[in-house]
Amino acid sequence: MPASVKPPLVHAVDIIATPDEASHLAGELATRLAVNPDVQSMDWDEATASWRCVLVDGGRGRLTLAAPADPAAAAANTHRLVTTFEQGSPAEAEAFFAAARHLPFTDTEVAAAVAELPLTSRLADRWPDKPLASTGVLLTIHHMRDFLVLVDSLLALGVDPAHMTVIDKEYPYAHTHRVDAHLVQRHGIAVWRYRDLREGIEDHIERVAAAGKQSVVMDDGGYVMPTVLRELPEQAGHFTGLVEQTTSGIRKVEGLELPLPLFSVAESDMKGMIESYGIADAAIRNTLRLLPDEKLEGQAALVLGFGRIGHEVARVLEMRRMRVAVFDSDITRLVAAHEEGFLTGRSLDQLVRTHRPRLVVGCVGSRSFGAREARLLPDRSFLVSTTSRNFEFDLDELRAGSTQVTDRGVLGTGYQLTGGPEIVVLGHGMPINFHYAESLSNRYVDLVLAGLAVGAVALARADARLRPGHNVAATNLILAEAGIVDDYYRLYGPAAGGGRG
Ligand SMILES: NC(=O)c1ccc[n+]([C@@H]2O[C@H](COP(=O)([O-])OP(=O)(O)OC[C@H]3O[C@@H](n4cnc5c(N)ncnc54)[C@H](O)[C@@H]3O)[C@@H](O)[C@H]2O)c1
Repeated sequence: MPASVKPPLVHAVDIIATPDEASHLAGELATRLAVNPDVQSMDWDEATASWRCVLVDGGRGRLTLAAPADPAAAAANTHRLVTTFEQGSPAEAEAFFAAARHLPFTDTEVAAAVAELPLTSRLADRWPDKPLASTGVLLTIHHMRDFLVLVDSLLALGVDPAHMTVIDKEYPYAHTHRVDAHLVQRHGIAVWRYRDLREGIEDHIERVAAAGKQSVVMDDGGYVMPTVLRELPEQAGHFTGLVEQTTSGIRKVEGLELPLPLFSVAESDMKGMIESYGIADAAIRNTLRLLPDEKLEGQAALVLGFGRIGHEVARVLEMRRMRVAVFDSDITRLVAAHEEGFLTGRSLDQLVRTHRPRLVVGCVGSRSFGAREARLLPDRSFLVSTTSRNFEFDLDELRAGSTQVTDRGVLGTGYQLTGGPEIVVLGHGMPINFHYAESLSNRYVDLVLAGLAVGAVALARADARLRPGHNVAATNLILAEAGIVDDYYRLYGPAAGGGRG
């Protein structure tokens, strides 16, 4: 028998469901575990009210539907699905838990998300003629519950699920596996991992082209078109348009000759003026959640990049009573930061040396801070990024310049810099608002998700105002015409709050 894991290993997930839904989902999971080739038998055991699983080489596992750990603190209708691996090899344990983690959402959970995204979920009412019926869609949007509402909406707008492909960016979101499972098991949508991006794109093109259709890309971070243009240029003609949701995606397509129109939600007024504060707030809230024993009030912080996100981060930190310095390589932004009352300087080294920040928040969107600057920080300082993936800090340089690098689990990575301080890169340098979190509240993100779908519709309809290349002005116009911002104002503006409206 292969090496045994230290038993028992337990995986528990809380679901919100009616009792019927909960037992149906548990039964479905038991069936999926049973078809695992390592499983010999799966039987209901009345005595323990659980499914008992026997593996082919004698290993054992169990699946139980239980009450939540703390029923008084749990939301109404919470049930806990507990999978326990009692005996077997690490590989068997991994296969067992992989199946258990891939749990689709219940109807109750989906209905709650739909209620929280009224703009996105009602888009099909605006366009009942199914404008997306003749197009394929390739998406790389963050894997959160809100994304499922966007997918439902795109399906309602006519996309055939067989002509939709989702790239999982492999961020450690709160519900990554459940989102993947929902897309695959409930909708039959193809999901590819970021590490297999190119194969995913090729598979999508083949499938959709075979049906005589072309595709729109809905991207968040410039994943698809740069890969297509560099590695599959002969396939570029398959795509009729690109909707991009974030600035780093715009940076990635800069310098490339885009043969198709870019609907730039990333650069829209809607995104810059309404969403940035929410992202900054979510980023700082998650930072504080990861550091419950720290007291940051009164201490020094440094914000790198005084753009849309950095500006709001600086203000949120100021509201948290930190002493905030700002560095931006663009002199106009630096002056703006200075005139808004932040400590600034033209030399980053000098600013770090004199201000000695315990918290550094990177909002530049590309490499902004490395080992040389980190060595100037006080001991036990924290680096936090809001930038897509792990581009903001030079992690290789930090590693090379350290005597010891420690994986601190959910917190991040610790670096004991040679002859310098010990610092922690929170969330391993990935954007902190998504780190085991759902970033913005669904009601906030609703507007941007609806905006992405508006872009897909405009591109699928070949709106003549969208020309190959960037289309910031046309994007603003089309978003305004769609009426989603009016609805947002109706929902959350003065009239909604009982003001004078
Ligand atoms: N975490 C999220 O949810 C989320 C959402 C949107 C955007 N983003 C990320 O945030 C990044 C910033 O977005 P934004 O809209 O604020 O961009 P922006 O272009 O408005 O701001 C970037 C700022 O960085 C400055 N800058 C550029 N290079 C610099 C350097 N080396 N040192 C210091 N400053 C420098 C620029 O002058 C600019 O002021 C994006 O690239 C994206 O990756 C994250």
